[in-house]
Amino acid sequence: LARVLLRKVYKMNLKQLIKTLSIEEKIGQLMQLAPFFFKKDSKVEVIGSVRHLDLDEDEIFLAGSVLGIGNREEMISIQKKYLEKSRHKIPLVFMADIIHGYESIFPIPLALACSFNPSLVEQASKVSALEAQTAGIHVTFAPMADVSRDPRWGRVMESFGEDPYLASLMSAATVKGFQGSDISKVGHLASCVKHFAAYGAIEAGRDYNTVEMSMHQFYNVYAPPYEAAIKAGSHLAMMAFNTFNGIPCTVHDTLIQNILKDEMHFKGLIITDYDGLQQVVAHGVAENRKEAAYQGIKAGIDIEMMSTTYIKHLKALVEEGRVDIKIIDDAVMRVLELKRKLGLFEDPYKGASSLDRNKIVMCESHLELTKKIAHECAVLLKNDGLLPIDKEVKLALIGPYANNQQTNGAWSWHGDTRKNKTLAEAFIKQQNKVVFYKNGHHISDYHEDDIKEISKADIVILCLGEYERETGEAKSKTKLNLPRGQETLLELAKLLNKKTITILFNGRPLVLNEMITSNAILETWFLGSRAADAIVDLLNGSVNPSGKLAMTFIQNEGQIPLYYNHLNTGRPYRDEYNEYVSKYLDVSNEPEFCFGHGLSYANFIYQSMDLDDNFSNNYQVKVQIKNDSKFAGYEVVQLYIKDNVSRPVRPIKELKAFQKVWFEANETKTIIFELHQSDLLYKNEKGKPFLEAGFFTISIGGSSQTKLSKQVYCKEEIDDYSK
Ligand code: GLC
Repeated sequence: LARVLLRKVYKMNLKQLIKTLSIEEKIGQLMQLAPFFFKKDSKVEVIGSVRHLDLDEDEIFLAGSVLGIGNREEMISIQKKYLEKSRHKIPLVFMADIIHGYESIFPIPLALACSFNPSLVEQASKVSALEAQTAGIHVTFAPMADVSRDPRWGRVMESFGEDPYLASLMSAATVKGFQGSDISKVGHLASCVKHFAAYGAIEAGRDYNTVEMSMHQFYNVYAPPYEAAIKAGSHLAMMAFNTFNGIPCTVHDTLIQNILKDEMHFKGLIITDYDGLQQVVAHGVAENRKEAAYQGIKAGIDIEMMSTTYIKHLKALVEEGRVDIKIIDDAVMRVLELKRKLGLFEDPYKGASSLDRNKIVMCESHLELTKKIAHECAVLLKNDGLLPIDKEVKLALIGPYANNQQTNGAWSWHGDTRKNKTLAEAFIKQQNKVVFYKNGHHISDYHEDDIKEISKADIVILCLGEYERETGEAKSKTKLNLPRGQETLLELAKLLNKKTITILFNGRPLVLNEMITSNAILETWFLGSRAADAIVDLLNGSVNPSGKLAMTFIQNEGQIPLYYNHLNTGRPYRDEYNEYVSKYLDVSNEPEFCFGHGLSYANFIYQSMDLDDNFSNNYQVKVQIKNDSKFAGYEVVQLYIKDNVSRPVRPIKELKAFQKVWFEANETKTIIFELHQSDLLYKNEKGKPFLEAGFFTISIGGSSQTKLSKQVYCKEEIDDYSK
């Protein structure tokens, strides 16, 4: 009751406060600018066209929030200068992209998803929040909850992959980690779930492109992770750049009002993406910036990030009677509410003044955590028995990542890669016998004397992948093979008759081509500050790989989009004797590696499965698994369902549960899953969950290519489960 009363008092006070503001001051609270505008020498990168938003000094100091910040000194000086100049003394709120670490950099989100361990994501987010707050950051633009099925898109690195269930768990864990129990406490950040909506479904995988989909696809595939982040309490939501079924998300009142607010019960603050509001003119849905402002405020945009349609045009729209001041007051209330919840009225500097940066940022325990998490994010794609390696084995490291510190990946700009170890350094530190290492991209980069040295090795380690600037935002590609002729390095090793271990450093599934003939392939993505140590631990066998793919590896780009939870079609591929079926003439329908795939040094045998459906509305699934090896390690046991007959048709498989289970050497365990009837639900085109009576196939395995399955009959027929 006390908290409710307090909230009421606060709301009343905020209402009083809003009454004291001029219309310019109110509209200013709805504008977010980079530090550049407050301090002409800010280090924050401000991209071209928005560099000069023709704002004068008075307009700049009306802004309510700041995008990005270089460091605590910069934050303190901006906040101090702002409060000195401000009449109303409402503090600025500082927001930034703390995606997978602040200065201690964790694996990229796509790698985090491959851990199939949401608690690690929560731990990483918690540490990232604490470190970021030493610089006075209060809000992070995370989780990126966009389901991603198209590896041409550079931002798949920032997503949790192709599966709605896995992405939902990871998005919720991210919110919980950043926000903790109370965002007013020092060391916690408010989360901003993004990008609403379905940014990952852009046509042709080309960034910022169009999105068109059925509402039934939206509700069953793309909506769940956003909803999970909202249920976990995300205080903000960011609208996506793309159009969604013909309307730019930024001014999409149905998406905002009907789906986000009414259906998902989102009560927080809505922010555009970077200059998203003025982009609606380019989209062609607003004639000019004034119309863009009109559509934005009517649709429900609270904060306009890095464009000036509100500050330049909202006042006139109110004076012309086209916009009711009450809409603006409501938006301002949400901004002030956020500032109140963050405790900024009591302490505008928060972590910047009270946290000891030297003790917190990149402290040993944080860096060790990045390594521990990295261990579980790497995915062993192939191993013909060459791994783990013995310390006596002589190694030659070639490729662009042989001696390279660039292991942080995109969206880690506060991370200082100069403090990272290289793979060669990590191997040497762990007393592996490294006889040669040199960065190179192509066979021609290795000359006669290099080749002499490489010949002394027993194994060539190919350290290959994408370059930092090839992955992330605005980095779509149509060719997904290893760039700059790196595949020739496999040829070099073969010419020297050497066995090879390929280590991949990349932000998206790649087309491997001949690389698939390497004796062993470890997918390491970009694993962050201690990537090199983690990789060497895995190759030496002191840690057993346990990661599973959160996104399908295609054989070639022509298959895109290819994902595990696809529909069956009326003419599913059966065998090569059937001509008129859904297939290609030049490549099979199969992926190179499927969703959920990942090997271990252990050998997990799925021995038996029992299903007990005598539970009303519940099913108990038991699976017996033997670790038939001398290696202890984790196995991610995955449970998929299929509704055998449904209308609309449902995917051939849907991940509904998984358990990451530790096995000692030669240990046999029985794993139990409790499946509830609600796990069998599907959504119709109105987003209503329903359940059809009928047979379901429950299948279990260490990947989406499951090993065991049972049928269960679900008696219930429920046409709207939400009632
Ligand atoms: C970028 C991204 C968004 C990010 C924002 C602020 O363009 O689309 O994810 O949070 O701008 O940096």
